[in-house]
Amino acid sequence: MSTTHTKKEKVTAETADRYALYEGSVYDPEADHDFLIDTYKEKHGSRPMLLREDFAGTSLLSAMWVQGHRNSHAWAVDLDPEPLTWGKTNHLDKLNEQEQPRVTQIEANVLDVETPTVDVLTAFNFSYWCFKDRTLMLDYFKKVYAALNDSGMFAVDLMGGPSSQSECEEVREEEGFEYVWEQENMCAITNDIKCYIHFHFYDGTKLEKAFTYDWRLWSLAELRDIMFDAGFESVDTHWEGTDEDGEGDGVFSLETAAENEESWVAYLVGWK
Ligand SMILES: C[S@@+](CC[C@H](N)C(=O)[O-])C[C@H]1O[C@@H](n2cnc3c(N)ncnc32)[C@H](O)[C@@H]1O
Repeated sequence: MSTTHTKKEKVTAETADRYALYEGSVYDPEADHDFLIDTYKEKHGSRPMLLREDFAGTSLLSAMWVQGHRNSHAWAVDLDPEPLTWGKTNHLDKLNEQEQPRVTQIEANVLDVETPTVDVLTAFNFSYWCFKDRTLMLDYFKKVYAALNDSGMFAVDLMGGPSSQSECEEVREEEGFEYVWEQENMCAITNDIKCYIHFHFYDGTKLEKAFTYDWRLWSLAELRDIMFDAGFESVDTHWEGTDEDGEGDGVFSLETAAENEESWVAYLVGWK
């Protein structure tokens, strides 16, 4: 569903659409979508129908969710109207007549929003790391817990490993542009990190700081403890496997111990 630029379009900093570039480079909601359905089904033997996507941005995961089953519903929550509007135009308006009424965008802070209770609630792409102190994170997780149906599932992603704490700049070739991920050194006292996404184009123009993230780098163990404190009955870690070159292979398995590789990503799943 994503709208990506192609080389033919000769995108420049002036003509670039940063949300289209984001979806064409950073975001893989299909993998998240399948992970959610498979993990819930494995636990309960049935398909989850109701999703709340927190920090939804362009709401692409919610759009995919309502396409997946005729009885599924999704609520996409974000406090910024800009990505919501972009997502409405580029994703939701393109859904068919049966799908459209089953997805609702809500412009609100995830700490204040009220939605019907859901089977699955997500906070992806590390967005919830904007909550930098434990009290606030616990408050958020408690509100998530209250927004879930019995036996509901809360899924977040996280990254870690020594390289996630240090300054870095990674450049990746995409179709028609370069995606640049820049990270500043982590503050050793607060664990604060600042990250940026830049886009560079073939004509030499650049969209610097297209997206800026001001996060605390939380550890998996800290987040698991906060989930338990919020009331979750169990918390599972789904760890990504590696290929022969040591790169993440996109296959996640339930683990209770793992090596602190140079850089890793995982899903943490709390069950109500
Ligand atoms: C990294 S984007 C995530 C977009 C999308 N979910 C994804 O996975 O790529 C973070 C989004 O969180 C939103 N956001 C930040 N703080 C928020 C809050 N307290 N409540 C709701 N949305 C928030 C921002 O407006 C932004 O659209």
